[in-house]
Amino acid sequence: MPEFDLVIQGGSLVTHENVTRMDIGIRGENIAAWGTNLEGKETIDASGLLVLPGGVDPHVHLQMPTPTTITSDDWNSGTLAAACGGTTTVIDFVEPNPGQSLQDALQQRKAEANDSSWVDFALHMTITDSSDETLKQIPAMMKAGVSSFKLYTTYDGMKLDYPGIFIVMKKISASGGICMVHAEDDLLIQRATQNLISEGRIAPQNFPFSRPPSAELEAVNQCIELAWESKVNLYLVHLSTSQSIRAVSVARYNHIKVIAETCPQYLLLDQQAILHGSAIEAAALVCSPPLREVFEKELIWNALEIGQIQSVGSDHCSFRIHPQKEIGLGDFRKVPGGLPGIELRYPLMHTYGVLNQCISLQNWVNICSTQPAKIFGIFPQKGSLAVGSDADIVLFDPQKKLTINPELLHEQVDYSPYNGVELTGYPVMTIVKGQVLIKDGNFIEQKKSGKFLHCGLPEFM
Ligand code: URP
Ligand code: ZN
Ligand code: ZN
Repeated sequence: MPEFDLVIQGGSLVTHENVTRMDIGIRGENIAAWGTNLEGKETIDASGLLVLPGGVDPHVHLQMPTPTTITSDDWNSGTLAAACGGTTTVIDFVEPNPGQSLQDALQQRKAEANDSSWVDFALHMTITDSSDETLKQIPAMMKAGVSSFKLYTTYDGMKLDYPGIFIVMKKISASGGICMVHAEDDLLIQRATQNLISEGRIAPQNFPFSRPPSAELEAVNQCIELAWESKVNLYLVHLSTSQSIRAVSVARYNHIKVIAETCPQYLLLDQQAILHGSAIEAAALVCSPPLREVFEKELIWNALEIGQIQSVGSDHCSFRIHPQKEIGLGDFRKVPGGLPGIELRYPLMHTYGVLNQCISLQNWVNICSTQPAKIFGIFPQKGSLAVGSDADIVLFDPQKKLTINPELLHEQVDYSPYNGVELTGYPVMTIVKGQVLIKDGNFIEQKKSGKFLHCGLPEFM
């Protein structure tokens, strides 16, 4: 009788530490052994392939309502797209309605995802006020498996001022959780936006000027100071400029517990296509913070190379051009902000990070899988190929060539910001908790097995 349900044979196992030629034995939902000549009821030949821990995307927005619309990917389409691109864990957000308890909002969001997600998921809790009533619910959230709390310095209805942020940080700090911040200074944004309005420049091509790099840097610096004072674990999402990443790096040097997240769009895209494109092309690329000047990309790659970025999230927030993004063709303030990216995050970082010799294979796995899992307290269940970890495994063909085209993708959007971009290396199989879910782009497993992940205390490095 074979010892394992499934054996992956002859691949190169890539962990955040090593690359090793070894077989992997899977029993039930877990990795049960590493070895040679393992015997399974089924065997998959992985020779010539990389065997990776499934990606952990720490920042996605699925089925997220906005004041005027809802993101086009729901839990079903978004997590299927994730799996096709090699991501087997996503961390999304709970956004309580005004007056709704955090517990109630959490239950509602979990219920929404539980029957619909193809991969396991965790949740960050959004906090939009600093009242005692809200803050006293934070310890219960930690017990319920939500250890990260997201604050905004901008967006009407969501934003907190810096004194409010400090109050919330102190409470999160006392609970041992993580404070995530979308850091763009609202006053600077309002000032820049008013200037554009007074000049009549409200077409989507002007959008990047409404949220200047200085707004990000100002909020990043403020939040770092408050994190230092409150001793909270600070996770700065979607950093888009080299200056703000450098500010994090200096803070870390000074032993402030802060993590820098960036996203593939800030490494690979820039504002040229917005400034010089049509209104529709510009609207398609509206996201906050905006895509930056060309020179920033190289500087952010350099920052990644020298270890100044600890996490890469997609900030997947998809809206179709027709009819969603086009609502704002005459006024950038009306364009729903966000880009799709859940499917391509892991492969893009391989082609443009590993093959360009900016990061090693191990580092690639680390920033796209292991490190996010550690930061958000789900390691080694996720982000790991160790014995005992969930068997969320990706077989990745490092030679496979692909030209990105929205028709090839599974995200529910009518465009891709990466249209025409060439990839070398792509997942050829995604295994979720021991079951083959995707093989060569085809769905194999029909049962949705995604469950809520209970996040423990963060491992902040
Ligand atoms: O424009 C973006 N990034 N939309 C998603 C929400 C956020 O701010 O992360
Ligand atoms: Zn944000
Ligand atoms: Zn986001």
